[in-house]
Amino acid sequence: MHLARFPRLHLAHLPTPLEPMTRLSKELGVEIWIKRDDCTGMSTGGNKTRKLEFLMAEAEAQGADMVMTQGATQTNHGRQTAAFAAKLGLACHILLEDRTGYQDGNYNTNGNVLLDHLHGATTEKFPGGHDMPGEMEKAAEKKRAEGHNVYVIPGGGSNPIGALGYVNAAFELLSQANNSGLQIDRLVHATGSSGTQAGLVTGMCAMNAQVPVLGIGTRAPQPKQEQMVYDLACKTAEKLGCAGVVKREDVKANTDYVGEGYGLPTKSGIEAIRMFAELEGILLDPCYSAKGAAGLIDLARKGEFNGERIVFLHTGGAAALGGYDFAFDHQNRWVTV
Ligand SMILES: Cc1ncc(COP(=O)(O)O)c(C=O)c1O
Repeated sequence: MHLARFPRLHLAHLPTPLEPMTRLSKELGVEIWIKRDDCTGMSTGGNKTRKLEFLMAEAEAQGADMVMTQGATQTNHGRQTAAFAAKLGLACHILLEDRTGYQDGNYNTNGNVLLDHLHGATTEKFPGGHDMPGEMEKAAEKKRAEGHNVYVIPGGGSNPIGALGYVNAAFELLSQANNSGLQIDRLVHATGSSGTQAGLVTGMCAMNAQVPVLGIGTRAPQPKQEQMVYDLACKTAEKLGCAGVVKREDVKANTDYVGEGYGLPTKSGIEAIRMFAELEGILLDPCYSAKGAAGLIDLARKGEFNGERIVFLHTGGAAALGGYDFAFDHQNRWVTV
C-alpha cells in the first residue's frame, strides 16, 4: 500500500497531536487519549481536511474551476470544502438540506453557514428528505451547461478517494503509537457518512494492526451504518490494491447515541461537550463529536473499556457551535463578583 501513488495536496497540519486526557481519564476511571483531528487546519480543521487533500487534488488534476458538494445546514464538510476551494482559487457551491427544521437564526446563518459564505462559497437550501445527490447532479449539469468544469464531491467526502485520507490517518496514528510505545486497545470516533471509519478500518486491517475501531453513530441505524462503512472500506481496499483485507466483523458501530435524529442535540451529547470543555479545554460539536464522546463516556461508565487504553479520534466540528447556541444554558456563569 503506497499512498504516494495517489494525487494529494499537502495542506493538512500533520501529524495531528496524540495527547493524554488526564482529567477525563481520572473522572471515568479509563485511560483515554485523544487524536486531535480537530487541529488539521483549513478553516479550523476537522476530519474533512484529510479527505479533501485527496479529493481536491483530483479536482485540480481534472482541471475543475468549480467544486460542488452537499450536506446538512451546519455541514462541516461544506465549510472545509469552501476553504479548500478558496485556497485553490476555485468556485464552490454547496447544497444545504434542512434536516432539523430549526427556524433559529443562528442555526441558519451562523456557525458553518457564516464560514461557508466567508470563504466565498454560494449556498442553496433544500427541505429535509430531498434526494440531495440527485439535486447536486442537476445543479452540476446546469453549471456545466454554463461552461463550468464542475467537480462533484459526495456528502461528507465519503468515497474511496476521500477515505484515503483516513487510511493515511491510521498509518499516522499507528506510527505515533509505535514510536512512543503506546499500545492502543481501541479507537473510538463519531461516524456519519462513513468515510472516516472506512479509511481507518482499511488502514488498520492492511497493517494487521489489530486495533479495533468503534464508530459511534450520528444518523443511521446500526445495520445500515455498518453496511455503509463495510461497503466503502471494501472499495477503498480495492483502490489500494489490497481487496479483501477488511472483513465484515472488522466493522463495528454503536448507534445508541443518535438521540431523536441527525443534528438534534442530545442530553448526553451536551454533557459530553461540558465535560470535554471543562476537564480538558477541548471543544466538541453537538451533531458529531459530542455524540461520539457521549458514547465513549457512557460505555466507559458501564465498564465496557475496563483495563483498555482508548484513543478517541476528535473529528472536529466545533465551528458549528455558534449555530447551536440555543442548545446551551449558561449554567449560572453570569455572575457579579
Ligand atoms: C465533526 C464531524 N465528525 C464526524 C463526522 C463523520 O465522519 P464521516 O462522515 O466520515 O463518517 C463528520 C461528518 O460530517 C463531522 O463533520
